[in-house]
Amino acid sequence: IGKRIVFKESVESTQKEAHRLAEEAAEGTLVIAEEQTAGRGRMTRPWHSPKYTGIWMSVILKPNLPPFKAPQFTLITAVAVTEAIRDAAGIMPEIKWPNDLLLNGKKITGILTELQADSDQIRSIIIGIGMNVNQREFPEELANIATSIFIEKGETVPRAKIVQAIMKNLEIYYDEYMTNGFGLIKEKWESYAISIGRHIIARTVTGTIRGRALGITDEGVLKLEDENGVIHDIYSADIEIDQ
Ligand code: BTN
Repeated sequence: IGKRIVFKESVESTQKEAHRLAEEAAEGTLVIAEEQTAGRGRMTRPWHSPKYTGIWMSVILKPNLPPFKAPQFTLITAVAVTEAIRDAAGIMPEIKWPNDLLLNGKKITGILTELQADSDQIRSIIIGIGMNVNQREFPEELANIATSIFIEKGETVPRAKIVQAIMKNLEIYYDEYMTNGFGLIKEKWESYAISIGRHIIARTVTGTIRGRALGITDEGVLKLEDENGVIHDIYSADIEIDQ
């Protein structure tokens, strides 16, 4: 992973660029930019991607797997990136299901997993990673929900060091997953996750469910037990810790 690199000074979105290149690109190709002018997050939200201060990258993988396995890649990436931040910056973020990494309750990293697939086979999986590294401040509308490694640690961290650590860990966990399955990654994910065992509020497209997060399944689905003891499978939602 990361042996082939497409580097751009400025791009609309590395994710969009990776989608365009995916069919031709070798597995493990990394698309990375200094700035995104139209970075995007989950649910078509914009992703603030100013120049030189963050990591804006997308990795193209081509696993020989059916499409329903794709959500696991968000969790594989979350574990790989959490450990990369620990190793390269010396601070340990927490994972908030499904795709956020937090420091002191604020977001430093978002992960966006997208697919190009036939009905029974993944053609390319495109993993977008956005990380706030050296920003000193955020626009007002983000100041309460976003932070950077610099703000939390009080020191700048070289972005290249973190990118290298991400590539290394992603390769290790991708290998682990393809060889031994999801077991070890799931265990690590659950140990790094803040929401497991806690009372949470899950806002899904069909409504809001409150309950206790029990864990994740092998498919990366969140299990939530409501106050009546009914267990819900959450495939996609925004999660808030219920105080
Ligand atoms: C989220 O938390 O909603 C996911 C954010 C993903 C942002 C990254 S930055 C690199 C890649 N290119 C994009 O346009 N988005 C992803």
